[in-house]
Amino acid sequence: MRIALVLTTLLFLLSFCAGEKHQNQHKKITAKKKSNMQQDEFSEDQLQTIKQLLSNTPQAQISAVDAAATYKTYCGLCHGQKGEMSINGAKILMDTNTSLSERVAQIYFGKGTMTPFKGTLKDEQIIAVAQYIDELKK
Ligand code: HEC
Repeated sequence: MRIALVLTTLLFLLSFCAGEKHQNQHKKITAKKKSNMQQDEFSEDQLQTIKQLLSNTPQAQISAVDAAATYKTYCGLCHGQKGEMSINGAKILMDTNTSLSERVAQIYFGKGTMTPFKGTLKDEQIIAVAQYIDELKK
């Protein structure tokens, strides 16, 4: 009977320690994630890249993109088909008041949990879909 009591106490203590360790680990992970998300601003270099991208992409190429379809395929998942959704901390695009270059930077480089689309989408697709956000706001 005594042994059983000692054993239960030990087990209890052990699980308590393990639980605490786990909690600490969890805290560390969330702290890391937060500092990642707080990296709000894009760097000068990044903004320069976006400026060039905007001035080097011909309007005809941008107009040729099916922006609505591109949005549905690549963005709707997190932002909703009408920009009304916010999955995993995604911003409600219907209500965004970002400038065109801010949006292009966001799509090109990604931020927080939003993946970068550089490489996945062509420059003209990125610009077209950034412009398309204005349609969502109507
Ligand atoms: C994996 C989910 C996910 C996908 C897919 C995604 N986004 Fe995002 N988006 C996010 C998250 C999360 C944020 C907020 C990022 C932050 O600031 O921490 C965000 C923010 C934005 C912003 C900034 C809005 C503001 O008001 O600051 C724009 C613009 C944007 N996304 C456009 C797009 C476009 C266009 C696409 C498709 C090419 C897209 N996103 C695909 C998750 C996603």
